[in-house]
Amino acid sequence: RAEVACRLITSRQVMGCMAPFSPHAHKGTRGHLALMGGSSGKSGAVILAAGAAVSGGAGLVSTALPACINTAFESRCLEAMSLPLPHGEDGSFHPGCGEALADFLSGKDAVAAGPGLTTSKGALAALAAVLDFCEVPMVLDADALNLLAEKPELVREIKAEAVITPHPKELARLTGASVHDIQADRMGAASAFAVQTGLHVVLKGAGTVVAHPDGSCALNPTGNALLATGGTGDVLTGLIGALLAQGFSCREASEMGVYLHGEAANRLMDQGLQTGMAASRLTELLPGVLSDAM
Ligand code: APR
Ligand code: MG
Repeated sequence: RAEVACRLITSRQVMGCMAPFSPHAHKGTRGHLALMGGSSGKSGAVILAAGAAVSGGAGLVSTALPACINTAFESRCLEAMSLPLPHGEDGSFHPGCGEALADFLSGKDAVAAGPGLTTSKGALAALAAVLDFCEVPMVLDADALNLLAEKPELVREIKAEAVITPHPKELARLTGASVHDIQADRMGAASAFAVQTGLHVVLKGAGTVVAHPDGSCALNPTGNALLATGGTGDVLTGLIGALLAQGFSCREASEMGVYLHGEAANRLMDQGLQTGMAASRLTELLPGVLSDAM
């Protein structure tokens, strides 16, 4: 087992990262995030990610989603725009959505793809289009990663700088290793995959590890078991996407994202919360957590 050097992400490193913005700022200067995902039964994943992107400071958030979940999205997410695209009978993207997605990406500053996407044929076509046409930094999560695990050749299609945010099972699918082996050497597993693929790898779970393509590794000290509930990963994806859209590099956005996301959960625990944290409560805290990092 190779030794991997790993530092700790520190408060000192993250605090002060969020530069106060110019009084002349407008929504067009604060970064436009393109989000792609969602399906019938998993509309919450894109709703949570879009909400976190807004609270994470993106100037504009646009979401491409299957039309069957558009009403749900629009009624829950007032600040984000949406592009409803044709859907199949399975409630996921129709395989013919590629061209529309290529247009959708134009003019965006960053891309977040995968929450609630499914691994259907249409979802695969949608992801392939995003990988093909995206020229800006990108974060890939959830079913985008499960699709990459099914079609490893797609990893080579990623032209842009990208962050992936697998939980241990998703990294297991991507690498072919067992969850047990990944958990036995989280830094080694994340770092090896980052070096092999050129991706920035956020290996989630207690003691989140961030590994970079140069093999360097950082351990996140924030976060707690309140996060062990559905949807908290979607919030992280939206937050990292928002940071990328605001101009942070993949290296910076991945480390800041996990730190600030965990810090929001720590604040809820400090307030006495011990169980039952809904993922959207993290989103409510993000503006305050980010403001304190200015
Ligand atoms: N301590 C600290 N952090 C934790 C803990 C813990 N004990 N448990 C979970 N977390 C954090 C992880 O680090 C991560 O940031 O909570 C988040 C959980 O993310 P996911 O595992 O992606 O969970 P979820 O948001 O429900 O994923 C939604 O995507 O990954 C797919 O199959 C998944 O369909 C599901 C969807
Ligand atoms: Mg997830």
